[in-house]
Amino acid sequence: MRFYETYLLVAGAFCSICTLAVIFNCGWDDNRAELKNERSPYSLPSTANLPETFLFVSVLSSPNETDRRQNVRETWFRLSAKGPSVFITRFMVGTMGLTGEERKELDEENEKFGDLSFLERHEESYDKLAKKTLASFVHAHEHFKFKFFLKTDADSFVRITPLIMNLKTVQHPMLYWGFLDGRAKPFRKGKWKEPEWNLCDRYLPYQLGGGYILSYELVRFLATNAPLFRIYRNEDVSVGAWLAGLDVKYVHDPRFDTEWISRGCSNEYLITHKHTMEEMTEMYNNLKTSGRLCTKEFQRRLSYVYDFSKAPSECCTRINGTNIP
Ligand SMILES: *[C@@H]1O[C@H](CO)[C@@H](O)[C@H](O)[C@H]1NC(C)=O
Ligand SMILES: *[C@@H]1O[C@H](CO)[C@@H](O)[C@H](O)[C@H]1NC(C)=O
Repeated sequence: MRFYETYLLVAGAFCSICTLAVIFNCGWDDNRAELKNERSPYSLPSTANLPETFLFVSVLSSPNETDRRQNVRETWFRLSAKGPSVFITRFMVGTMGLTGEERKELDEENEKFGDLSFLERHEESYDKLAKKTLASFVHAHEHFKFKFFLKTDADSFVRITPLIMNLKTVQHPMLYWGFLDGRAKPFRKGKWKEPEWNLCDRYLPYQLGGGYILSYELVRFLATNAPLFRIYRNEDVSVGAWLAGLDVKYVHDPRFDTEWISRGCSNEYLITHKHTMEEMTEMYNNLKTSGRLCTKEFQRRLSYVYDFSKAPSECCTRINGTNIP
């Protein structure tokens, strides 16, 4: 454990080279009009009666992912018996443009489980994930009171109890905690190409999307400024850029296995991403029977500790032979 505490502390000092860049480009385009409507500043509900929790867990999920949602309910949602004062989980589902039948099915699912949040102005599409992520911040900010916010996906497995325990030790009013990348280069062609990105040759540091934690203050900033942001294609890149000008507390933690592919299995993981439903069930059963996540620990992709003393382009060297999870 000593090892983690060291890099959690190291995480405090952070490069500010690129942070100014994000202030440019505050133009307006149609892209943003619908987000403007996502929030109505003059009719915000009073926060007095909102449900209140320590950690709000937002699982982004498309309308047709019924099986995935059920799999999550039957696995890691059950790992903690703590009530809603500790954590509240919601699947964020965009409902604009759904047929009556599709909407009816979602309403029925929600009557049964009560864990869906409908983003009424969001139409689902792979290239609108940044808007969806932003809409999820707006929704959470309008409907819940919380200290911290976890963004995750339906193919991520979250060990909710140790995550919350660790969050209590790293809690910070400007926390942005996950697996940080500071040197990623924008895609210039293909499905994920990023024509809007012209701030730097690299992206600004951002937490990878399989799961990361934001403080309430950062979610409030994102939610209340939603109409002003430039929307990039990649939702995680977008969040990193939107927050880059703030006095953010970046914490890198290799126990977040939240890259686009899982690095393997380590019993130290707090979140692990890109799993089939069968794998999710297996990890749940492992924890229930032995208290350990993995059937067998292994590493298929090397990990790194973020080096905050170097330029972001040299932040993230993966070295074989270390025991970084
Ligand atoms: C589910 O919906 C998403 C977008 O909403 C789409 O990309 C995907 O292909 C759909 N999957 C199935 C199995 O229909
Ligand atoms: C690390 O090095 C060992 C020994 O050379 C090799 O077997 C293993 O596959 C490497 N691990 C990764 C994740 O590349």
